[in-house]
Amino acid sequence: MRQKIPLASMQAKLLRSAKKVMGNAYAPYSKFRVGAAVLLSNGKIFTGCNVENASYGMTNCAERTAIFSAVAQLGPKIEVRAVSVVNDHGVPCSPCGACRQVIYEFGPDATVFFQGAKGPKQAHITELLPEGFRLQ
Ligand code: THU
Repeated sequence: MRQKIPLASMQAKLLRSAKKVMGNAYAPYSKFRVGAAVLLSNGKIFTGCNVENASYGMTNCAERTAIFSAVAQLGPKIEVRAVSVVNDHGVPCSPCGACRQVIYEFGPDATVFFQGAKGPKQAHITELLPEGFRLQ
């Protein structure tokens, strides 16, 4: 069986990737830029930023942009191992409920790195989303 990549060794790289892509955010309404980097089990990293819309509800969060981009590039069999989320206000920002469900879909064992109320935090996706919904 293939060894899992040690997360600690990837954390700094994920954070750098998330910060870099945050600069591409389209956030004219909230002025709150978010970047996300997703580490897959195959070691690849995909990134995404928030993309807002004048019809506010159409906004896509950074986390979902990153995961959807990974699926678009590699197909449906991706496994999300970790997600790093950053924002340009340096404020606490854990993934929203919708993004938690999407992370869980592709990463039921994923670790999420984000800014918590007392500084940087990491949590298992099932801590953030207990009883996540699955069809299979
Ligand atoms: N946002 C994200 O992209 N990810 C999060 O984890 C929280 C919120 C975005 C959505 C919207 O464009 C802006 O942040 C303010 O809610």
